[in-house]
Amino acid sequence: MLADGLIYNANIATFDDNIDMPAGTIAGGYVAWRNGVICAVDSGVPQKISASHAIDAKGKLVTPGFIDCHTHLIYAGDRAEEFEWRLQGRSYEDINRHGGGIMRTVEATRAAEPEELFALAKSRILRLFKSGVTTVEIKSGYGLNLEDELKLLHVIKRLQITFPLTFKATCLAAHVLPTDFVGSKDDYIAMVCNELLPTVKKQGLAESIDVFCEKIAFTPEHVRTLFSTAKSLGFTVKGHVEQLSQSCGIDVVCEFDGLSADHLEFANKEQIEKLQMSGSVAVLLPGAFYYLNQAHLPPVAAMRQLNVPMAVATDANPGTSPLFSITTAAHLACTQFALTPEEALRGVTLHAARALGLHQKKGVIKRQFDADLVLWSKERAVDLIYEMPCAEAEHIWIGGNIVTKEVFS
Ligand code: NIG
Ligand code: FE
Repeated sequence: MLADGLIYNANIATFDDNIDMPAGTIAGGYVAWRNGVICAVDSGVPQKISASHAIDAKGKLVTPGFIDCHTHLIYAGDRAEEFEWRLQGRSYEDINRHGGGIMRTVEATRAAEPEELFALAKSRILRLFKSGVTTVEIKSGYGLNLEDELKLLHVIKRLQITFPLTFKATCLAAHVLPTDFVGSKDDYIAMVCNELLPTVKKQGLAESIDVFCEKIAFTPEHVRTLFSTAKSLGFTVKGHVEQLSQSCGIDVVCEFDGLSADHLEFANKEQIEKLQMSGSVAVLLPGAFYYLNQAHLPPVAAMRQLNVPMAVATDANPGTSPLFSITTAAHLACTQFALTPEEALRGVTLHAARALGLHQKKGVIKRQFDADLVLWSKERAVDLIYEMPCAEAEHIWIGGNIVTKEVFS
């Protein structure tokens, strides 16, 4: 068989459920690809494969490219002073209610030129890439008016065109009510539904619509209004729900067959049952939980028992999760939420792929799947997240092409 690329003598953590080993691992095996797609993966020595590009992995680990399925990477400024305020005892909600928090980042982001936002996002994506990320979801949500939300989404579009990673764009215009908006939360949601979403659709700037359902943001009724417009325009939907209190946003995500329900610290067992029925993914964001010093744990035992897929993501943002390493997010899922290392790594591969609707192509090393591969200077999957700082990739292929950090220079 003629292949474009081949990695042999490798421990391959496939995350293929049909391989009955931890992390679906094939010890001492190979993976080959052609035209950007995996064409062979097996144990032993490849006998009949000739490839122009062949790498001896010397017994080291190969994983699928990791998938960060929840980030807020497009912003200017930082919120380091809030980090200090929270250490002095002020809560995230209190800071947000008094003009700080999300609105601070909105002000800095509105003032920034697209060029600056692009450069800042690029440096953040480089950090994720070093931790093995080849697919990233990016939300808007720091523009919060027609013009600035579109500005952020255009920056994401430019990232898509410029870099070989896979980017999924999400519109999070319903993040909070911006303080300068003249009108109520109902009026703002109406503006998003009537003006912004149709424009985003027409310009092809996002595939998914997100919302923050919380006392300091929007109600389940707002979410319902937003999602019914989003769905009628052909968007997929997802939500920041049950993060700081029982917001009941998760129930609406399930009603609308959302791709994912994210955060979920305050979700209860009945709500996890609904999640199971809807087929939505539970996206766990341990960076935000850790950073906000939260105590109320998401109901991981119920998710496990009901076989709800648990994805893990960085939630990279300047306020609640300034975290730019997916391996560290997986580590935190273990230490904060008691996931097993295996569960945490499934959370950044196959389950993260499902959270983005990419589970037919990405997140697993399997024939017909995209040749997004990472070679690590480690031998076992657990080694990626056991030491701190967590592991960085040695070599990365995206769609079968080797990609180095120089693409970001
Ligand atoms: O995922 N919960 C709302 N949104 C973000 C935080 C945004 C911010 O504080 O800037 C989150 O935690
Ligand atoms: Fe978030």
